[in-house]
Amino acid sequence: MNILIIGSGAREHAMAWAALRNGNVAKVFVAPGNGGTAMMGGRVRNVPIKATELDALLDFTDREAIDLTVVGPEQPLEIGIVNRFRATGKRVVGPTMEAARLETSKVFSKDFMKRNGIPTAAYRVFRDYAAATAYLDSCGSFPQVIKASGLCAGKGVVVATTRQEALEAIHEFFENRIFGEAADEVVIEGFLSGQEASVFALTDGKEYRLFLSAQDHKRIGEGDTGKNTGGMGAYAPAPLVTPEVMNKVEERVIRPTLDGMAAEGYPYTGFLYVGLMIDNGEPSVVEFNARLGDPETQVVLPLLKSDFVDALVASLDGGLASVPFEMHGGAAATVVMASGGYPDAYESGRQIDVDPSVADIEGVLVFHAGTRQDGGRLLTSGGRVLSVTALGGSLKEALDRAYQGIGKISFEGACFRRDIGAKAL
Ligand code: AMP
Ligand code: GLY
Repeated sequence: MNILIIGSGAREHAMAWAALRNGNVAKVFVAPGNGGTAMMGGRVRNVPIKATELDALLDFTDREAIDLTVVGPEQPLEIGIVNRFRATGKRVVGPTMEAARLETSKVFSKDFMKRNGIPTAAYRVFRDYAAATAYLDSCGSFPQVIKASGLCAGKGVVVATTRQEALEAIHEFFENRIFGEAADEVVIEGFLSGQEASVFALTDGKEYRLFLSAQDHKRIGEGDTGKNTGGMGAYAPAPLVTPEVMNKVEERVIRPTLDGMAAEGYPYTGFLYVGLMIDNGEPSVVEFNARLGDPETQVVLPLLKSDFVDALVASLDGGLASVPFEMHGGAAATVVMASGGYPDAYESGRQIDVDPSVADIEGVLVFHAGTRQDGGRLLTSGGRVLSVTALGGSLKEALDRAYQGIGKISFEGACFRRDIGAKAL
């Protein structure tokens, strides 16, 4: 079996790593991949096609007799990669563009949750500056959460603690148009208190299987301070998601979401990412994503004991409910090493030095994101550079190992958070 993985982050590196564990997999292609997937060698190869070049990707699947395509990021989902692939009879894991609106349109997603009685913050939708400011003037309490409806690479949400901050956000969205069309519609929703965790399902539209829950660290600074990023580290499982909470998430969120999407004519297939706020054991949905998370994938996939590819195939060909989907005991943690300056402007092209003894630390897996091979050297080429992951018998052991791994890797300007997982210890 030949597999094509679409994307270039540490999530896709982790997927390639997981795919290789299946003995029936002959070749794994990653389009476009990164310096880490380039170095895997053997059955893995990068393909220089961008994730949104759908024609070129389709041609490639014909040329290389690809049996299964897995979509990592959201942008190709938004432009209909799954619709295009399916229309030509190709097997692809992901939701159609209509189903992916659970992520690509916050207005769709909020309206869908309301129609289907799925717990989420109360909200209003605005299409112009005047109406939004009038509403904010009438709001009795803050924080209010301002969200651009469209895709903004995780940057389209402002938790405004004062009216002034909220008005500034609305001005940026509607008047300065910092997100362009992605902020033609804006959701203003109530603030949810509690703690965040995420749950991930693989689904065929009817049946689903759950990965372990995880917790991301979205802010750049220690103690959850500073700007939002794509994610600076994660761990799994999240102790916050007790079996009771998971039951509630299944009954109140996952089941009604799959049933509702099917009933409305857009069966949801692929990975469903449920971002939750949990307050006193009661979960509400903060957001859906139409894919696996990054960096959460780097912890939930290594904890999947059963075969990843067999589960993907079952999600397409039937048998998802009975395919083995067992998890390892213990825990996993990942710490992201980023370029100096990230999430603002950062410099690229720094040489990355990796002490080979990193491979001797038990349980450590180094997944690459913004890296590229240049002759014999490995250079930085993005904001998030590496996702240093470790498995352990406990979260503490996993974290210790991940930080030991970080100690073996250096590049100029490297930054990372030293407090990943600290809250859960
Ligand atoms: P989103 O992109 O919708 O996940 O929002 C990004 C981040 O903003 C979330 O991970 C939360 O930390 C925060 N957030 C979003 N919506 C809310 C809300 N209604 N209440 C509190 N925090 C929120
Ligand atoms: N880590 C958050 C996301 O993938 O959206």
